[in-house]
Amino acid sequence: MATMGDADRFKREAAEGAVELVRSGMVLGLGHGTTARFALLKLAELLRSGLLRDVVGVPCSTQVEAEARELGIPLTTLDEHPVLDLTIDGADEVDPTLNLIKGGGGALLREKIVAQASRREVIVVDEGKLSPALGTRCALPVEVVPFGWTAQARYLESLGAEVALRRTPDGSLFRTDQGNFVLDCRFGPIADPHRLARELDGRAGIVAHGLFLGLATDLFVAGPSGVRHRQRGRPSVV
Ligand code: A5P
Repeated sequence: MATMGDADRFKREAAEGAVELVRSGMVLGLGHGTTARFALLKLAELLRSGLLRDVVGVPCSTQVEAEARELGIPLTTLDEHPVLDLTIDGADEVDPTLNLIKGGGGALLREKIVAQASRREVIVVDEGKLSPALGTRCALPVEVVPFGWTAQARYLESLGAEVALRRTPDGSLFRTDQGNFVLDCRFGPIADPHRLARELDGRAGIVAHGLFLGLATDLFVAGPSGVRHRQRGRPSVV
């Protein structure tokens, strides 16, 4: 039987650490990605066993919605519950102040809407996602409407990015749940993420970007030496 590789084991351990924050009766945001999926599996197990009750979730993507339904996790919407107790989600890169790059899976717009509606945004990663400066490890995903997308690509290049239109593994154009395109923007280490975020937020045609600044309240990071829980502005608590 195939054994779980280290990377998957760390993802699972980080995700399961975060699930320990969940209490019966909570309204949860359900994140997208391979790490957040381990949290979904654990939640389903705890609900089945009766250790957790009356939990409902808002999925961050149509894919997570389908997975949660299959696992028997009760779902709701942000319109029914505009304030969420806690969201568990992954990230592509995490800086020392818990600012993030997200959107590697393409769900960045819904993930940001859900994060902004959450009292607690709990991020789960393996320690390979830690970075001294955002942009060092990965490209910044930017979701753009198809109308005039080339103009957005030129704008992003003018800000210093090397821009690639995202495609699926079979070569067709990647579309988000909103039907938009994603431009993966390689900036290298981003000296001033807040300034870049303002430049992106102010541009018509850009509907979301993967800079999640000041949103994460908690980080569960797993590696060979175990799982650490950090809270924004506080030292490690585990
Ligand atoms: C989804 O759009 C992303 O923001 C994911 O949360 C992020 O890409 C992390 O995904 P993995 O846990 O699969 O690395």
